[in-house]
Amino acid sequence: MKHLLKLADLTREEILSVLNLADQLKYERQNGVFTPHLKGKKLGMIFQKSSTRTRVSFEVGMYELGGYALFLSNRDLQIGRGEPVEDTARVLSRYLDGIMIRTFEQKEVEDLAKYGSIPIINGLTDYCHPCQVLADLMTIREYKGAFKGLKLCFIGDGNNMANSLMVGAVKTGMKFSIACPAGYEPDAALTAWAKKEGEFFMTDDPAEAAKDADIVYTDVWASMGQEGEKEKRERAFKGFCVDGKVMAAAKKDAIVQHCLPAHRGEEITADVFEAHAKEIFDEAENRLHAQKAVLAKLLK
Ligand code: CP
Ligand code: NVA
Repeated sequence: MKHLLKLADLTREEILSVLNLADQLKYERQNGVFTPHLKGKKLGMIFQKSSTRTRVSFEVGMYELGGYALFLSNRDLQIGRGEPVEDTARVLSRYLDGIMIRTFEQKEVEDLAKYGSIPIINGLTDYCHPCQVLADLMTIREYKGAFKGLKLCFIGDGNNMANSLMVGAVKTGMKFSIACPAGYEPDAALTAWAKKEGEFFMTDDPAEAAKDADIVYTDVWASMGQEGEKEKRERAFKGFCVDGKVMAAAKKDAIVQHCLPAHRGEEITADVFEAHAKEIFDEAENRLHAQKAVLAKLLK
């Protein structure tokens, strides 16, 4: 494992190895133990989009590992004024030990890795969100004990979350179902891969997708960068909501996951959100532990 550009690049064993280290780091932290795996290491964090969880968990994670994190906003970097990614990658590689980047195009992340000489971590693109799904898998294993045979259901937009969850589910032996409106399906190449490698089911009926699910997952109807489509999407996604009806179709002990931020009354009702708040905020906490494991593996 040299980079974390997308989850599809990792083998099942690499994913499990990250999750095992994440569990260990979480346990150590709960007991006040902070091993300086990354003493003196420096991580650059480039943000071309907003963030609460990713920014804070990476920054705190580097601090707890004995390293240092620099917040690099698009508004301040020359990249925001058109300096090519290939030059930025080569310059930052001379100063830093790793880069985490949140941006729009997946190609920008891949190009940083291609032209730079340090590990690159994808902190979300329009295409995928691998750090989030590692935290989600960690949470699912905490609640369910193992992955094999579980059913993970996603309700909503076939977006970056759906793409990464599909890969994470198939790689860990879970069934994956998605309910989305026509025209908002996940990536076609990933869907073809998931059908071939695992158990994949797609429908436009949320309750059908949620039938006997162990995990019910949802995300916003309009992602960052899609603010201009908000009204069109509100019409298209009406009814694609994790509500009492969806939860009644899922298993009785199903957990709910949401990458956050959440829009109550849109993709999830306030009732379902609050009834499953413990799982959702455990999931948010696990961003810290899962990313510390990724950082320790890539930057050490
Ligand atoms: N889930 C997630 O990535 O949250 P932020 O956008 O706050 O980083
Ligand atoms: N799909 C959302 C996820 C946010 C963590 C977005 O890209 O805005």
